[in-house]
Amino acid sequence: MTIAVYPGSFDPIHNGHIDVIRRAARIFDKVIVTIANNEAKSPCFTFAERKELVEKSLEDCPNVEVDTLNGLLIEYVRKREASVIVRGLRAVSDFEYEFQMAMMNRRLNENIETFFLVPSEDHTFISSRLVKEITSLGGNVDSFVPLHVKAKLIEKLLKVKNKTSNTKKG
Ligand code: PNS
Repeated sequence: MTIAVYPGSFDPIHNGHIDVIRRAARIFDKVIVTIANNEAKSPCFTFAERKELVEKSLEDCPNVEVDTLNGLLIEYVRKREASVIVRGLRAVSDFEYEFQMAMMNRRLNENIETFFLVPSEDHTFISSRLVKEITSLGGNVDSFVPLHVKAKLIEKLLKVKNKTSNTKKG
């Protein structure tokens, strides 16, 4: 049984992530989608919110589990008895960062392999950062995220923003 861990910030999950998870779920016996914090980013959604959004997006995939991680990824992978880390590669611009992480993780544990998957070309340009930016400026993100994620984005980024500007006016 080959267990793979797909770690990421998922802040929030978008169609590119979902595409990669579905591909991984066809290859590996079990895929653990692990929501982690990236030290370089401050998340907009809490761990619990991100987990709920990921779970709802993949509820039809029986071999996908969703979990959270607060620590070193490579240790988590070992504890979960997984042998593979899955990462998505959208473009050449992702490569340097991904290569560095893969090498670092290999140095920390050479028995764990990083496995790169490329999402469908329809999704290669999607990023959580742009999805949040477009939502907060009133743009339509229908083709980038599932509807339940869009609703949560609006609740978090637009309603809060409107409330703040009304308070300021009042
Ligand atoms: O979706 P992201 O932000 O590109 O994911 C990056 C993530 C969360 C996979 C990476 O920051 C990570 O592995 N964080 C856990 C802490 C860790 O192990 N850091 C060392 C990585 S070599």
